[in-house]
Amino acid sequence: MLHTINKIGVMTSGGDSPGMNAAVRSVVRACAFHNLECYGIYRGYEGMIDGDFVKMDARSVKGIINKGGTILKSARSKEFRTKEGRAKAYEQLKKAEIDAFVVIGGDGSFTGAMIFNQEYDFPVMGIPGTIDNDIFGTTHTLGYDTALNTVVEVIDKIRDTASSHNRLFFIEVMGRDVGHIALNVGIGAGAEEILIPEEDLGLDRLLDSLRRSKKTGKSSSIVIVAEGDKIGKNVFELKDYVDVNMSEYEVRVSVLGHMQRGGSPSCFDRVLASRMGVKAVESLITGKSNFMVGLKNDIIDLTPFDQAVKGKSKINMELLRVSDIMSI
Ligand code: F6P
Repeated sequence: MLHTINKIGVMTSGGDSPGMNAAVRSVVRACAFHNLECYGIYRGYEGMIDGDFVKMDARSVKGIINKGGTILKSARSKEFRTKEGRAKAYEQLKKAEIDAFVVIGGDGSFTGAMIFNQEYDFPVMGIPGTIDNDIFGTTHTLGYDTALNTVVEVIDKIRDTASSHNRLFFIEVMGRDVGHIALNVGIGAGAEEILIPEEDLGLDRLLDSLRRSKKTGKSSSIVIVAEGDKIGKNVFELKDYVDVNMSEYEVRVSVLGHMQRGGSPSCFDRVLASRMGVKAVESLITGKSNFMVGLKNDIIDLTPFDQAVKGKSKINMELLRVSDIMSI
């Protein structure tokens, strides 16, 4: 059915990421540009169920392009996963006369939007926002570039201690199921080894590599471990393993945690967010629905939600080879 779009809702959902505010700003201003009303939906699907909406205009989003986190707050809603929760959300949207919504979030948030669209034929559009970059249909998710820069800066600082004390550092970075952050910061910060879920290096190869680097005169080393690495040991167990098997190393562990998700977005993320917000609104206006906006070969394009959700974002295998060569 063709829908007339007069009022668009916008929300952030799932884990926050730098650039979400810039995307909210873009959606709100694109609506103002096209003479549409825009409503901010607080706390993702939780706020949708509660009818926690606020009317926004171009000035409501001033001064937020440079802010990390999300002014609309975020949540992971259990209730929206139920039919009853979605029915409540639909009633609230109808009551507020909202005709469509844009959800900025990850694949869980898109799955919710897709089911909602199927049940109520409600126009929806997604913008990928997560530092993990684990979404099919875009080479970059919002916040990923900022997180890379944040993490590289921190590893540079840890390197000062590693080299001053001739230590081996295991540094755990985020990436629940994927190694995008680990692989890129590993190369960017000159790591000795990079452990990612997509490739099981194995403990023997790790020890071999560390032995080799000692032999070739390296006095300190940094190993980057993606949170979701499948080597079978967490980062503290890795330390224990090396302690037992290579007593010549003094080993330390650093788990970077949520600091990777915060901070002011990079210029790249701000521009990407601005482009994606405009595309999301203009796609809804032209009658499109059930798509995720993404970046492909520097073009902002649409991917159907079911593909975005089912597809796997792939790591660049060439980076693994480059990393091997660089750590000689
Ligand atoms: O934003 C993605 C992510 O950073 C994952 O890498 C990590 O596993 C997860 O979020 C942790 O999020 P939370 O603490 O909000 O559950």
